[in-house]
Amino acid sequence: VDLAALEASARERLSEATYSYIAGGADDELTLADNVAAWSRYRLRPHVLRDVSTVDLTTSLLGTPMSSPIQVAPTAYHRLVHPDGEAATAKAAAAAGSVFTLSTVSTVSIEDVAKAVPEGRHWFQLYVHSDRDLTIWLVQRAEAAGFSALVLTVDTPVIGRRRRDGATGFSLPPGIEPANLIGFREGRTESTNLVDFAATAFDPSLTVDAIGWLREHTRLPIVVKGVLRGDDAAACVAAGASAVQVSNHGGRQLDGVLATADALAEVAAAVGDRAEVYVDGGIRRGSDVLRALALGARSVFVGRPVLWGLANNGADGARAVLTDLAAETARAFQLAGVRSCAEAGSDLVS
Ligand code: GLV
Repeated sequence: VDLAALEASARERLSEATYSYIAGGADDELTLADNVAAWSRYRLRPHVLRDVSTVDLTTSLLGTPMSSPIQVAPTAYHRLVHPDGEAATAKAAAAAGSVFTLSTVSTVSIEDVAKAVPEGRHWFQLYVHSDRDLTIWLVQRAEAAGFSALVLTVDTPVIGRRRRDGATGFSLPPGIEPANLIGFREGRTESTNLVDFAATAFDPSLTVDAIGWLREHTRLPIVVKGVLRGDDAAACVAAGASAVQVSNHGGRQLDGVLATADALAEVAAAVGDRAEVYVDGGIRRGSDVLRALALGARSVFVGRPVLWGLANNGADGARAVLTDLAAETARAFQLAGVRSCAEAGSDLVS
């Protein structure tokens, strides 16, 4: 799969507003571009003369075995790009042996994803909303549906300014709704517009205490997503996070923040072996996956490319993105003399 061609082909199938909503970032999109560019600034230092006739990509996340260190990041509104929406993406992730992270603002509900893909390993992306009852309602539904982790997004006290959405007038077409938010209160539908929803539902007063609060309301492990500094990562772990996801929300929040590749080593060093460390943002090649592991990530999460695959060919298209990236990663392992994720140490990059 040529990811650039896949994106171009998806663009042809989608409205300009939908394409731009997914492809775009905040303000001048500096971070959006740097997320991709930063990985290639790390030069690989391969070993030679290691027996790489077989390489093993398997790993585990929060104690569960996974086929590879490549998982699906949470992204909003999948039915914008394919009628099967998140049910198809979840199916693709399960077929690839990957975690599927369902967004709070998904267009297929928590329960329907679980029903459509009972064999999947699903995580639920969550905000701690100003309305704590809404938050707890979502947590309880994710638990009841068999989801196995909560991914708490913490880089969104307010929504970043996405200029492309203003220019295109992006809004959800009729019939495409944030399925998880329907029915919370009788007679009231939460806003379907992300900007309005964020303004009323996101809680800008949140502190690190939210992690402890959430722990009291769930038995699921908590992944804190959106961390870019070692000190913050250490505080999240001290507050009870089982994992920290280095992320800048795909360059969609504060523009000008450092690329996730450049934040990763500091966060990994601060966390040590007290929690797992993941990264998302700009991963486009198997060699990027190898770089991420070498810089201290246990796993990477991929967002936009999976949506381009979904737009082109539904579950099969999304699965091909994941399995091809895994095949590229295996080749990168072989060419770098790396036989397992554990062997992808910091000496492999400079
Ligand atoms: C949602 O979280 C978005 O970034 O659009």
